[in-house]
Amino acid sequence: MSKTIPEITLNDGVTVPVIGLGTYKLKGIEGVRSIQNAIAAGYRLIDTAYNYENEGTVGEAVRRSSVPREELIITSKLPGRYQEHEKAVTAIQESLFRANLDYYDLYLIHWPNPKQDQYVEAWQALIDAKKWGLIRSIGVCNFLPEHIERLEKETGVKPSINQIELHPFFNQAEQRKWHEENNIKTESWSPLARANKVLQNDTIQTIAAHHNKTVSQVILRWHYQLGSIAIPKSSSPERQLENISIFDFSLDNKEMDLISGLTVPDGRINNQDPAVYEEF
Ligand SMILES: NC(=O)c1ccc[n+]([C@@H]2O[C@H](COP(=O)([O-])OP(=O)(O)OC[C@H]3O[C@@H](n4cnc5c(N)ncnc54)[C@H](OP(=O)(O)O)[C@@H]3O)[C@@H](O)[C@H]2O)c1
Repeated sequence: MSKTIPEITLNDGVTVPVIGLGTYKLKGIEGVRSIQNAIAAGYRLIDTAYNYENEGTVGEAVRRSSVPREELIITSKLPGRYQEHEKAVTAIQESLFRANLDYYDLYLIHWPNPKQDQYVEAWQALIDAKKWGLIRSIGVCNFLPEHIERLEKETGVKPSINQIELHPFFNQAEQRKWHEENNIKTESWSPLARANKVLQNDTIQTIAAHHNKTVSQVILRWHYQLGSIAIPKSSSPERQLENISIFDFSLDNKEMDLISGLTVPDGRINNQDPAVYEEF
């Protein structure tokens, strides 16, 4: 049985589903089968990155799927080591060659790497690639408001999406509010906090039991009601279906607040603070 996932429109007019599939670690023929299965189940947004070294796997799954290419939203990301303008342009082309696709729907700068101070020229490369028809919508990941403000000031173009670490232990309230005020869509990476201790959390377990849903479904519904696009990764057909079966119940304000209240200042999974973290 396949599910229909609601869609939203980004600030540049591109329409995307409100939940997608993360693909970190989905590689090779098993990865192709997992992604193919997800598409058959109803997923239309697939998130990869140059640095995951699985753009080829994603492209292969897209070609093997019976869903037309234009109904899919394929995202990839520019690595930190290729932020210099010329290198960024080449990396975007290489990303496409690896996937054997003509265009990406979304292309994001993977990390700002502020010490390197090249994210504005990387952004210019994404703007150029969009003009050339290689990308439909451009965005960023892990950018703080100050980084995005600089992009807009120096190029006049603002991102459609900022993909950030977001889960019950790190709810990103301030950053989300800033995105809302600036008409930038929030996308949640590691939305299930990698499904470690969060699955045993008493508060969420109680809410899940009340709705007759799983802990993962409650967390993904929380993302949806926060207005963020979650991209849970799962290799398993059962869990993939579970993760998109969240549109037949809702959380009330108290439940939303209880989940948001699980956030702690050091709640990041691997302490990756975009102000100082460097990704290559
Ligand atoms: N932009 C960035 O800097 C950045 C950083 C990290 C991640 N990402 C993106 O975000 C995606 C998602 O993040 P993530 O992969 O780190 O973590 P995640 O989606 O929070 O968690 C993935 C883990 O949860 C398990 N899982 C999934 N659904 C489950 C369910 N219903 N019940 C129990 N376990 C479940 C998966 O196992 P199974 O596969 O066995 O189901 C996997 O071990 C990535 O794949 C990647 O595309 C982006």
